[in-house]
Amino acid sequence: MNPYEPILTKIKKIIPETPTITTFVLDGKPIEFEAGQFAELTVLGVGEAPFTPSSSPYAKDLEFTIMKVGRVTQKLFELKEGDTVGVRGPFGKPYPLKEFKKKDVFIVGGGVGFAPLRSLFLALVENIKDYKKIYIRYGARTPKDIVYKYLLPEWQKIKNVDILLTVDVGDEEWKGRVGVVTTILDEIPVDIKTTPAIVCGPPLMMKFTTQRLVDAGFKDSNIYLSMEKNMSCGIGKCNHCRVGRFYVCKDGPVLTWKDVKDIEDPFL
Ligand SMILES: Cc1cc2nc3c(=O)[nH]c(=O)nc-3n(C[C@H](O)[C@H](O)[C@H](O)COP(=O)(O)OP(=O)(O)OC[C@H]3O[C@@H](n4cnc5c(N)ncnc54)[C@H](O)[C@@H]3O)c2cc1C
Ligand code: FES
Repeated sequence: MNPYEPILTKIKKIIPETPTITTFVLDGKPIEFEAGQFAELTVLGVGEAPFTPSSSPYAKDLEFTIMKVGRVTQKLFELKEGDTVGVRGPFGKPYPLKEFKKKDVFIVGGGVGFAPLRSLFLALVENIKDYKKIYIRYGARTPKDIVYKYLLPEWQKIKNVDILLTVDVGDEEWKGRVGVVTTILDEIPVDIKTTPAIVCGPPLMMKFTTQRLVDAGFKDSNIYLSMEKNMSCGIGKCNHCRVGRFYVCKDGPVLTWKDVKDIEDPFL
C-alpha cells in the first residue's frame, strides 16, 4: 500500500468546542490506532497536516479536535458534515500503557493539547482497574476556551478519576481556579517517584510544566511530552521533524524529558 495515499472518508459530525477549536467526527474508522499515535488529515485540494486523534482507540468513530491556525485548518473549518477528507496513518509510537499499570497517571494539558490527552484518558478509563488513580490537570486561557465542557461532568463522576481545571482569566460565571496551569501543580497527590506525568500543550506551557514536574521530583524518564514539530512525510523519510537525534514522526510524537532535555529549546 502507498503510505502517502490517504483513505477517503466523510465528516459525520462537527462539534464546535471553543471559538477556535472544533471536534471533527469522521464516519467509521478509516484507521486503527493506539493512544499517542497520530495521523495525517488531508483537506482535498489544499494539503495535509498531522493531528493526534482525540477519540478513544476503542471507539467506533475516529475524532480529531483541531485548532484553526493556518492554511489547512482554515479550509478544514470551512467544510460541512458529509464533506470528504482523507486520513493516512497511524504514525509514531503509542504511550507505553503497560508501564503505567498499577501506578497513578498524572495528565497535564493546556489549550488544544487536551485533544490527544483525551484519547489517552479514554484508553486508560477503558481498563481503569489496571491503574491506581488518573489525575487530569487542565488549563485554558478563559472559560470559553475550555474544550469538552459537555464531557467533563461525566468524567468527574468516574471512580478514581480526579480532575482540576484552571483558566488564565476568569469571567463572572467562573467559580473555579484562576492562574496558569502550573498554579494547580502546587499540590501533586501522587507517589512522585513512580508516577508517569503526561504533558501536552503550547510550547511555553510545556516548558514551564516540565520544569515544575522536575522540581517536584518526577523522574526525567517518567515525564512524557508531546512534541509537535512541523512534519511532512510522517514516516521518517524527509527530515522535517528532527529534534536532536529523534525523528518526531517515527520515534515520537511522545518523547520523554530524559530523551530531549539536552537539546537546545526542545519545545520550539
Ligand atoms: C504529532 C502532532 C499532533 C498534533 N495534534 C494536533 C491536534 O490534535 N489538534 C490540533 O489542533 N493541532 C495538532 N497538531 C498541530 C497541527 O499539526 C498544526 O496546527 C497544523 O499543522 C497547522 O496546519 P495549518 O496548515 O493550518 O497551519 P500552517 O499554515 O502550517 O501555519 C500557519 C501559522 O500558524 C502557526 N501554527 C502552526 N501550528 C500551530 C499551533 N499548533 N499553534 C499555534 N500556531 C500554530 C504557524 O507557526 C504559522 O505561523 C499536531 C501536530 C503534531 C506534529
Ligand atoms: S515528517 Fe518526514 S521525517 Fe518526520
